[in-house]
Amino acid sequence: MTFLDLVRRRKSVRSFLDISVEREKVLMCLEAARLAPSASNSQPWKFVVVDDRELKNRLCDRAFGGIYSMNSFCRTAPVIVAVVSEKSKFLTRIGGLFRGTKYYLIDVGIAIEHFVLEAEDLGLGTCWIGWFDERAVKSVLKVPRDKKIDILVALGYYDREKLCPQHGREPMNRIASFNSY
Ligand SMILES: Cc1cc2nc3c(=O)[nH]c(=O)nc-3n(C[C@H](O)[C@H](O)[C@H](O)COP(=O)(O)O)c2cc1C
Repeated sequence: MTFLDLVRRRKSVRSFLDISVEREKVLMCLEAARLAPSASNSQPWKFVVVDDRELKNRLCDRAFGGIYSMNSFCRTAPVIVAVVSEKSKFLTRIGGLFRGTKYYLIDVGIAIEHFVLEAEDLGLGTCWIGWFDERAVKSVLKVPRDKKIDILVALGYYDREKLCPQHGREPMNRIASFNSY
């Protein structure tokens, strides 16, 4: 499979099989994330992996209640990863303020996509989750209050046959151009 085949294969998974994920495979996904590039090599992330079923269910009950219930499908995932956005290096933060760019969000996004693509390569499905009760997640996972959790990732085995059809994408001529805007 070429890299582009892998990228084409990946889709968000919102229904997982009730099969636990091997720690070695989770560690391979984490290794892919660990090697991601980041502004000034700040590596502003910490991945908190929840693979204990009881804890994971409690996390889902708390994270996806009320207005967040559209993501309650995450309960079917055997693994939920909370990605804590850590502080970038001081000079990167200053540079970011000067430029009006949140480098840490770019960094975390790259690391998560490394994680997600490695998962797909291992036959595992994922879904990025940006809509959840952050305060509840911090409380369940004992993440200090001053930290930020921008994204969760649901991870697990899935049935390809049951995936929704590919989401549409903008045509190439709308998203790219050569030599001028
Ligand atoms: C930053 C981010 C946040 C997202 N949050 C959610 C979410 O809360 N719930 C959800 O079901 N999907 C979420 N998604 C998945 C997107 O809806 C999905 O990637 C998009 O519709 C394209 O579909 P595909 O991933 O199947 O190609 C999120 C994706 C990203 C990148």
